[in-house]
Amino acid sequence: MQHIDIKEIYENQELINNNVTVCGWVRTARDSKNVAFIELNDGTSLKHLQIVVDKNSGIELEQALKLGTALKVEGKLVPSTNNIVEINASAIEVLGIAPADYPLQKKRHTLEFMRTMPHLRLRTNTFNAVFRVRSVMAAALHEFFQSKNFVYVNPPLITSSDCEGAGEMFTVTTHPYGATFESADECYANDFFGKKAGLSVSAQLEGETAALAMGKIYTFGPSFRAENSNTPKHLAEFWHVEPEVAFAELPDVIALAEEMVKYVIGTVLKKCPNEMAFFDKFMENGLIDRLTKLINDDFGTITYTEAIELLKKADVEFQYPVEWGCDLQTEHERYISEKIFNKAVFVTNYPKEIKSFYMKQNADGKTVAAVDLLVPGVGEIIGGSEREADYDKLVEAMNIRGMNLDLYSDYLDLRKFGSVPHGGFGLGFERLIMYVTGVSNIRDVVLFPRTVNNIR
Ligand code: 4AD
Repeated sequence: MQHIDIKEIYENQELINNNVTVCGWVRTARDSKNVAFIELNDGTSLKHLQIVVDKNSGIELEQALKLGTALKVEGKLVPSTNNIVEINASAIEVLGIAPADYPLQKKRHTLEFMRTMPHLRLRTNTFNAVFRVRSVMAAALHEFFQSKNFVYVNPPLITSSDCEGAGEMFTVTTHPYGATFESADECYANDFFGKKAGLSVSAQLEGETAALAMGKIYTFGPSFRAENSNTPKHLAEFWHVEPEVAFAELPDVIALAEEMVKYVIGTVLKKCPNEMAFFDKFMENGLIDRLTKLINDDFGTITYTEAIELLKKADVEFQYPVEWGCDLQTEHERYISEKIFNKAVFVTNYPKEIKSFYMKQNADGKTVAAVDLLVPGVGEIIGGSEREADYDKLVEAMNIRGMNLDLYSDYLDLRKFGSVPHGGFGLGFERLIMYVTGVSNIRDVVLFPRTVNNIR
């Protein structure tokens, strides 16, 4: 269908005083005695385009003024004092009527209400802006890694090994409803793959195999977690960015994470000024200043042990008590990044008991070379580590956790054949989008959120 994007209408000065054709959905409409005004949006721009219709022109307006109706409009593009440009319509074709039960009649709905209609909420300014920023961020991540010679690899989503060992894998099976077996072993042996399979919680283990061949790799795809966490920052299906680097130690992993976050945020500030101004106005006042400060400042760094000391001294009643050895809860993470540092902060060297089997064991015998990146407002957005490169130490850590070594034989081979120091991290893409847009619920930065008791 021949037409011009509304984004281009605003950007291409040469179109002024020419006849143009645009398509879009009616966002608002005003009718007066001699003229009608339609605000049209085609999704390419946050700013609507005003269509002016002379009521003596013979253009049929009965359906064309209904909110949500899809139109094709022809007319002359002219300068306008209030709107930069507008179209004086010469013809309007109704492509699809939206009757009066179109749910988005009011100008502003709550985000909760819009969650009940994920298929229509995308036609609002908020979601238009969120998904444009999300797209620019995804492209920026690829630009960042590609410019540094990282190879983009696509690991399998169906896997037989649980990377995080937290028992949060969704099972993949072709057994029909009601199938019964004498034992779990018999059940899995008779399943599609002949063994237990599930959806990947992280591409890290496959990423390590690729990094120990290609040096520097990254993955960018969905991870799945069957964790029963009904919180504003957990999804059952989220997008995971996982770089993995050979010949790298923990400080290298930390430097890479900081550079990546700053690059992505800097790109969004540059490429999405209208969307960011919108979020600054409607989601979080001062957002642009906060992000600008973040990219111009060094991130903080603190060890887990130091963080625990500061949390214990804090003049705050935490819901979860703080002791060395405890896992940091969101309330602790937010206290560290918001009250102690008031900026992004890396927490390093966690107790080995609360972290995964694959992390490099530190010389103190108590901690591992892990790192989490915490940011104000959201908490943890990145988790990573230097990996245990020593075969015997890795086997020992796996045995302590009662893991089945046979399932990890490929992974163990990496430590047998030319093992090198290496490490990487996982970025929760949606959590970074929350931080960048000021949107406070992760359900509002994905097209169709999958959470406990919620799929459509
Ligand atoms: O800290 P996590 O569990 O680390 C890993 O999976 C490592 N294997 C990554 C690696 O080193 N390659 O997860 C990494 C990040 C978290 O910091 C968080 O941002 C995000 O993934 N994440 C989730 N995001 C949304 N919903 C969930 N349920 C998430 N679980 C983790």
